[in-house]
Amino acid sequence: MTISAPVGAAPQSGSTTKRSFGKTPDGQAVDLYVLTNKNSAEASITTYGGALVSLKIPDRNGKLADIVLGYDNVDGYVADKSYFGALVGRYGNRIGHAQFVLDGKTYTLAKNNGENSLHGGVKGFNKALWTAKTVSAKGGQSLELSYVSKDGEEGFPGNLNVTVIYTLTDGNALQIEYSATTDKKTVVNLTNHAYFNLAGQGSGDILGHLMVINADKFNPVDAGLIPTGELRDVAGTPFDFRKPTAIGARIDQADEQLKLGGGYDHNFVLRMPKDHGESLAARVVEPTSGRVMEVWTTEPGIQFYTGNFLDGKSIGKGGATYPKRSAFCLETQHFPDSPNQPKFPSVVLNPGERYHTITKYAFSVEK
Ligand code: GLA
Repeated sequence: MTISAPVGAAPQSGSTTKRSFGKTPDGQAVDLYVLTNKNSAEASITTYGGALVSLKIPDRNGKLADIVLGYDNVDGYVADKSYFGALVGRYGNRIGHAQFVLDGKTYTLAKNNGENSLHGGVKGFNKALWTAKTVSAKGGQSLELSYVSKDGEEGFPGNLNVTVIYTLTDGNALQIEYSATTDKKTVVNLTNHAYFNLAGQGSGDILGHLMVINADKFNPVDAGLIPTGELRDVAGTPFDFRKPTAIGARIDQADEQLKLGGGYDHNFVLRMPKDHGESLAARVVEPTSGRVMEVWTTEPGIQFYTGNFLDGKSIGKGGATYPKRSAFCLETQHFPDSPNQPKFPSVVLNPGERYHTITKYAFSVEK
């Protein structure tokens, strides 16, 4: 087989570079790693919160744009309350009443979201400094991040050793592989909280993006956004994204669940393949740029959040501001409040077991 470079273009090879991203308030050095693939697509990741800071992906004319929200330096991430691009843990999403029971013992967490615990607590993994090392990858560039969450941190039991490998493939996919082990029975639910706007960050709202979510059911929630326990059919509701539908087509309908979320802020129950491999969870098309994003995951759920709490007040990359609904998140995960919902897939991790999940954001274009 002959592989030829496009005429006039120099054959490229990928690279990974590192630079300073500033310092934490207590003076620790924070780095930014820039992964570039053979097509010049680029993913930047900081050791602070393991956040995906930028993601430059070509449109249908080959023009790159940065398609995730973020900040120009670490100070933005230290102040951030929106979890831009961050690695979220130890428990991504909400735990009702900020407590759960394991083997008869009640664990109490901080109530950092009304009565509930959100995204790991007051100082979740998004505010931790991760250790980074570049690792070799076939057909792409990889960065391995690790963090040890101490027994009792934010109220969770067990020393948890977490490793996350970001890979930018030469096929323009960003893969995130999460692993964890513990020395005491605990709960784990890791995700990434990237905010996407496939037309380019800071370019307006995402209501015209066409969304497909491969889910027949979703988790309706109460006023605190905790699942009621019901798995509700999407059929006949504004939550039916089984066929491509503009995000904005139904978002302001007088629907009880949309009102509770202030838009979409719900977990969808994914159709899982029987072999528990990666399944296509979602496909998003941005018609003006032609960019397409597919989300593949081993996880059973995905939180579709339409940036309802964004208020345009924080200053993002290049001075951009991010008003309400100027980005969407597709957070692959186990269902919210699983520690308190025996019927949901288990989030318990035992000593001797390995937590291992993979999520891939694959990019292409439509003409
Ligand atoms: C998740 C939650 C939202 C919101 C964001 C962060 O997506 O479901 O309600 O808290 O994180 O702002």
